[in-house]
Amino acid sequence: MVTSVFLTVNGRRHEVMAATHTPLLTVLRNDLGLNGPKFGCGLGACGACTVLLDGKAARSCVVRLDAAAACENVVTLEGLSPDGSDPVQQAFVKAQAAQCGYCLNGMVMTLRAFLDAVPNPDERALKEALRYNLCRCGTHVEIMRAARIVAGLEMADPTEENGGT
Ligand code: FES
Repeated sequence: MVTSVFLTVNGRRHEVMAATHTPLLTVLRNDLGLNGPKFGCGLGACGACTVLLDGKAARSCVVRLDAAAACENVVTLEGLSPDGSDPVQQAFVKAQAAQCGYCLNGMVMTLRAFLDAVPNPDERALKEALRYNLCRCGTHVEIMRAARIVAGLEMADPTEENGGT
């Protein structure tokens, strides 16, 4: 049954008309026009749809709307930093860690939540944090480089910051 549901996304309160069991991802993309989170598997397996629910990474394709509405804040990639200046996003740029880019939302959001909880991880912990986020292009080497850069385990190459020019 369609009903009125209030939820807070990126600090803004929204009212949506939807069934309470609607996947959060559907509401974010279709009702709120937030296309940072991507539909990959729809089964909670790939991580492309990751958002932060009260600071914790969650796969929005398997989170019900009513569960999201019970959270104080849902943060999407758009809410992380409006201008892309979050250090995690900047590290991905520095490492040029994108091919098709479809997985990047999940990589960035998962890493953001992880670093908020574990500010000084070692490489093993970084790998563990990202191990269930899939990249079908096989860009994991660059993605791990971005993770090491933002975690302070590797320096960015300044010649790469403008696309290697
Ligand atoms: Fe949600 Fe794959 S689309 S985990």
